[in-house]
Amino acid sequence: TLGANWEEKSFFSLPSLSQRETLFSWWEDQPTETLTKMADEVCRKTYGNKVYLRGLIEFSNECFCDCLYCGIRRSNAKITRYSLTDEEIIETVKRGLQRGFHTFVLQSGENRADLPERMTKLLFTLRKIAKEDVAFTLSCGVYPREVYREWKKAGAHRYLLRFETSDPRLYASLCPGKTLDRRLQALEDLRQEGYAVGSGFMVGLPGEDARTRFENVLLCRDLRLEMVGIGPFIPHPDTPLGKEGHKSLPIEFTVRTTALLRLFLPWANIPATTAAGSLHPRGREMMLEAGANVLMPNITPVEKKKHYLLYANKICLDEDGWECLSCLSLRVASVGKTISFERGESVLREKAQ
Ligand code: SAM
Ligand code: FES
Repeated sequence: TLGANWEEKSFFSLPSLSQRETLFSWWEDQPTETLTKMADEVCRKTYGNKVYLRGLIEFSNECFCDCLYCGIRRSNAKITRYSLTDEEIIETVKRGLQRGFHTFVLQSGENRADLPERMTKLLFTLRKIAKEDVAFTLSCGVYPREVYREWKKAGAHRYLLRFETSDPRLYASLCPGKTLDRRLQALEDLRQEGYAVGSGFMVGLPGEDARTRFENVLLCRDLRLEMVGIGPFIPHPDTPLGKEGHKSLPIEFTVRTTALLRLFLPWANIPATTAAGSLHPRGREMMLEAGANVLMPNITPVEKKKHYLLYANKICLDEDGWECLSCLSLRVASVGKTISFERGESVLREKAQ
C-alpha cells in the first residue's frame, strides 16, 4: 500500500550491509553544512517552504513507567501530578480550532488503568466539534492492539510512539520492565489498525554512539514512518541519569541526524522539537534548516505546562501557547519558510490512499 514512487525518489534505497558501512562513513565525513544543504533541498522539493503546525496538548503527566531519563517517571515524587479534565481538553481544542489549527496532538504519560475508555469517549466528543479535515494524533504510550482499534474507530488518525533507541540492550537498561520488541510490536499494531505512524528517538543518550544514531535513522526508514520526532537527550536533575551527571551532546549532533533522516525519509513529517529549542536558542531553526518541516506549539493551559517537565530548562513554560504562535512565525520566517495551518498529511500517505 506504500507509494512506490517515493521509494524511487528517495535519496538512498534501503542499503545492504556493505552499503551501510559506506553510508555510515560518508555521513561521518560530511561537514554539517553540506548535510544541511542537501537535506534542505530534499525537504523543499517535497514540502516547499511550508512548516505545518500541530497544537500539542500535554493532558496528563501521570505515568506508570520509570524510564531513567524522563522527568515524569513514576519514581519522581517531586513533581505535581495533574490530568486535565475532559472539559479543559475540549476547551483547548475549541480555542485551537478558532485559531485555525488542523491537527491536535494529545500527549500523556502511560496511565494504563483508566485511559482507554476515557479517551474513546473524549475522541467521540472531539470528532463532533471538529470538521472532517481536522486530524487527532495520540501519543500516550503502549497499549494492547484492541485499545488502539477502539481509539481509531472513535476518531484518532495518527499515533506517535518513539522507540527511543534502536539498541535493544540500551533500551532495556534505560526503561526498566520494558523491551524494545514490545514497543516495535505496538508500532506494527498501529500500522495494522490503519494509523499514520510516528516514532523517533533521542539523540545523545548515555551509552549510544554515532553508529547507534545511524542505525536509529535506518530503523525509522525500515518502519516506513510517516512522522519522525527526534530531539536531544537533556538530563533532568530528579532522574537517575540526571543525578549521575550525564550531559547533552551539542545541538550539532541533532542537526546532523535530522539531515540524515530527511535524506533517508524524504516523505516524512519531521518536527523541529521543543527539546532542540531548549538545548540551543536556535535549535528549532537549525532543525528546520536541516530538513524538519513541522512545529508543535504547546497549547497546554499555561498553569499546567510547568508540571510536564521531561527535562531541565524546557522553553515556553511561561508563554501561553497562543503567544508562541507569533514568536514561531518570526522564527520560521528567519529560515525562509512559512507557517501552514493545513492538516499536512505525509506525502507517503497521500500517495498510498
Ligand atoms: N508516554 C508516551 C510515550 O512513552 O511515548 C508519550 C510521552 S513521553 C514523556 C514523550 C517523549 O519524551 C519520549 O518518547 C522521550 O523521547 C522524550 N523524553 C523523555 N525524557 C526526555 C529527556 N530527558 N530529554 C529529552 N527527551 C525526553
Ligand atoms: Fe514559545 Fe517562542 S515558541 S515563546
